[in-house]
Amino acid sequence: MEEVNVGIVGLGNVGGGALAILAENADQIALKLGYRLRVVAVCSRTAHSKKIPAALEPVFRTTDWRELVARPDVHIVAELVGGTGVAGEIVEAAIEHRKSVVTANKELMAACGPELWDRAIRSGINLAMEASVCGGIPIHAVLREGISGDRVVALYGILNGTCNYILTEIEKRGVPLVEVLAEAQRLGYAEADPSADLDGPDARSKLVLLAALAFGEKITPSDVFMEGIRRITPLDFQYARALNHTIRLICGARQTADGLILFVRPALIPSSTILAGVQGPYNAVWVKGQFGEDTFYYGWGAGALPTGVAVVSDLMRVAREIRSGSPARVSPFAHERLGEYQPVSITLQRRAYYLRFRVEDRPGIIAKLAGILASKNISLEAVLQEPCNTKHDLPFVITVEPTSEQSIRDAVEEMSRLDFLLETPLALPMETGL
Ligand SMILES: NC(=O)c1ccc[n+]([C@@H]2O[C@H](COP(=O)([O-])OP(=O)(O)OC[C@H]3O[C@@H](n4cnc5c(N)ncnc54)[C@H](OP(=O)(O)O)[C@@H]3O)[C@@H](O)[C@H]2O)c1
Repeated sequence: MEEVNVGIVGLGNVGGGALAILAENADQIALKLGYRLRVVAVCSRTAHSKKIPAALEPVFRTTDWRELVARPDVHIVAELVGGTGVAGEIVEAAIEHRKSVVTANKELMAACGPELWDRAIRSGINLAMEASVCGGIPIHAVLREGISGDRVVALYGILNGTCNYILTEIEKRGVPLVEVLAEAQRLGYAEADPSADLDGPDARSKLVLLAALAFGEKITPSDVFMEGIRRITPLDFQYARALNHTIRLICGARQTADGLILFVRPALIPSSTILAGVQGPYNAVWVKGQFGEDTFYYGWGAGALPTGVAVVSDLMRVAREIRSGSPARVSPFAHERLGEYQPVSITLQRRAYYLRFRVEDRPGIIAKLAGILASKNISLEAVLQEPCNTKHDLPFVITVEPTSEQSIRDAVEEMSRLDFLLETPLALPMETGL
């Protein structure tokens, strides 16, 4: 049978990984498909000096993505550039040329997925995006097909490998975040500007996509409460351990009686939960269904080859659809609010909380803090203090019984005005139900 031709724009980490797999695994791929997937054109700003696997040659090279997209022999365009600028133009141009698209771009799909899907459907082409979330974990396929018969009630994920690496290193070695971050940057696990990872936007884009797929709701980044990991210290892990918990950057989408609660934030999770075992730069997703109950997915969240596998598998799926005559497309995104799963403010959630203080020691501190908690109807659960000689900078922790996020915020705001506090108290939810 005639081969299906691919044009790849972006020859960086993911583009390079996809090309290596397409070259080294070409025979297996052809056996599985019944025909060859052939890379006929590649594009990057420095395409002419890029090393392309010899097995794929001859390949047309260009620095102009428009030239690649317009070529009649390109059936599928892989957008592996990233960002929302040029990448958006490439995807739109491919759709206009009625070419199916494979993308690894979470940022673009989280920002404009529903609109791009609308256009793709009108053009009768496919838009595949498995590589955009959790690199090597085929989580889109799971939500789109594997468990689509279930009714998802909650989804929890560790979706940022950089943050997970940093948190687990702080946990293991008791060294501060800045030190681990510098090491992660040397090892290539963290970017020179780490804010998209550390402050949460990267994980938020991924959660937007997963929650849209899981709940069929139109979700945008602004629906997600986001807080990064910069304030987490080795001491927090010490206290978490004393409470039989650990700390991870948790991405959650949970159905409640009020609506859908969406968050990316550091949280205490029980040491015994399966998510606590996710160490280093790995990713994981835990889905709770009404009928099938719990399923768990684990693997590399990034990296040239794991992400390359997701890209190549998407190319194969799209190639099959092209060869078998495309069925009518159904967008994995809803196009409007469905109501039942309408995102609501996190201030409505009820959780137990961990409050960590740094104070200038003096008599009456606990009584003062307990008074503020009582005034917000918050019940104190425990007070913990690890041995410490620094009276001028004394850390301790208060845990409280389940209360609303709004009450905790009000209490923290009032506490922040107290003159013995060296910084605003750190408030982390305790996801005890995981
Ligand atoms: N890295 C990962 O592990 C990973 C995992 C999951 C998803 N992703 C996603 O995959 C995408 C690519 O990431 P990456 O890490 O591979 O990025 P990268 O290493 O920075 O590669 C980006 C590529 O895009 C090319 N490019 C940039 N602007 C271009 C333009 N105007 N025209 C043509 N080519 C252009 C660059 O060209 P030059 O090389 O010639 O400069 C480079 O080859 C992103 O959406 C990212 O979020 C990455």
